[in-house]
Amino acid sequence: GDSSFMPPAWPKLSSRLMNPPAANPARPRVYLETYGCQMNVADSQTVSAVLRRAGYVSADRAEDADVVLLNTCAIREHAEEKVLHRLRELARLKQSRPEVKLGLLGCMAQHNRVAIMEKAAFLDVVAGPDSYRRLPEMLGRAGDNYNASIDVRLDRAETYADITPDYGGGVRAYVTAMRGCDKFCAFCVVPYVRGRERSIPPSDLMREIGELAGRGVKEVVLLGQTVNAYRFGDTGFSALLKMIASIGGIERIRFMSPHPGDMSDSVIEAMATEPKVQPHLHLPIQSGSDRILAAMERGYTVAEYLDLVARVRAAIPGVALSTDIIVGFHGEEESDFEATTAIMRAVGYDSAFMFKYSVREHTRAFRLGDSVGEEEKGRRLIALIALQEEMSLARNRAMVGREFPVLVEGPARRGGGMMAGKTPQFKTAIFAADTAAVGTAAGDTVNVRVDSATGHSLMCSIA
Ligand code: 5AD
Ligand code: SF4
Repeated sequence: GDSSFMPPAWPKLSSRLMNPPAANPARPRVYLETYGCQMNVADSQTVSAVLRRAGYVSADRAEDADVVLLNTCAIREHAEEKVLHRLRELARLKQSRPEVKLGLLGCMAQHNRVAIMEKAAFLDVVAGPDSYRRLPEMLGRAGDNYNASIDVRLDRAETYADITPDYGGGVRAYVTAMRGCDKFCAFCVVPYVRGRERSIPPSDLMREIGELAGRGVKEVVLLGQTVNAYRFGDTGFSALLKMIASIGGIERIRFMSPHPGDMSDSVIEAMATEPKVQPHLHLPIQSGSDRILAAMERGYTVAEYLDLVARVRAAIPGVALSTDIIVGFHGEEESDFEATTAIMRAVGYDSAFMFKYSVREHTRAFRLGDSVGEEEKGRRLIALIALQEEMSLARNRAMVGREFPVLVEGPARRGGGMMAGKTPQFKTAIFAADTAAVGTAAGDTVNVRVDSATGHSLMCSIA
């Protein structure tokens, strides 16, 4: 780490950046916008904590801020286009208020720093995912000599373990357990932009989650690009799950995203035997064709994946399964695509995230090419989404008449006195608040019976 930046002592968690104390005009105001995955949301909470310690307060809108930061995603071209579009808008803001400092953080900063600097010459700060500790210095330097302050060094020791992120509120908290990825799947830019795998010490995770429990958090979601590859000294992922389950006040534990190759028997055993670990597993398959899986360098065959699914289902009754799928990877023939739809039918996922293949610079697949045309990718994606909608609906309808404990999150978005929460399988349950009979405040767990279902939620009544 960098010893030149020693954060001053900070009163623990007394105020979060989202909700600053009294507005102090002397303190610079920062507006932070987050793109991409849950990991980026968690990283933004770390950025927020770093800047708050350095004296910044938060602004609700870019227009009211002295510093505007975008925490970005590079996973697909579309994600980058969204950010570039937003940067063009912010360029106009900077024209009218040249003193505003504009920063690009995260995976895009790491992925295409040169192109970014050319496209957005008005950027003051460019910081990769391992540089957030140095942001206050970088912002301090920015604007000198009209040069942007750029720091995209990857640091295999940086875990931010000592920085407690600014928790966003609510009954569920997302907690980073490990950073980076060593898998190097052929299509994926993550190992290049987030660097090597590293785990946060169990003692830091225990302290942080203990504090969250003290603030009313009931559910933690452990995060990592390959979270079940977690290892710190002798502590592997199954041991970590059991340690966290010992924290009083934490009622539910989930994790995102595991890799099928690291789904050991001990992790399955921990899920099966530890009641707090919820029966939902996200198990990205990417393709149902062995030929494509090999080209993707995923490290498993379809048969091995299906064997894992069978072991998980045998050990954890009622487990919900979700997945990630890419259509149109280089070389994907119609027959490979059909193999993917066949696997989807065979497994019967509760939900799936589906994507068109997007060629990424620096990856191993970059030089292979992009043999499936954009239109054909679109056709395959639409067909896959339609199939999954059908299957999600069927799986949710199969829940009608059954009862589940639901962790209440708050009023449902549809309003009308309805409340919403999640079942153990991470399905959204919507029910009428029954204030007379049961406490249905956020953080309560209520038993509900499923009356009807859509592909996306369960309509329930209190049982
Ligand atoms: N193109 C399309 N989808 C991708 N993913 C990762 N890289 C790419 C890419 N180049 C998808 C994978 C992964 C999810 C997070 O994003 O399905 O599991
Ligand atoms: Fe990307 Fe593969 Fe690592 Fe997942 S496991 S982040 S898909 S390289």
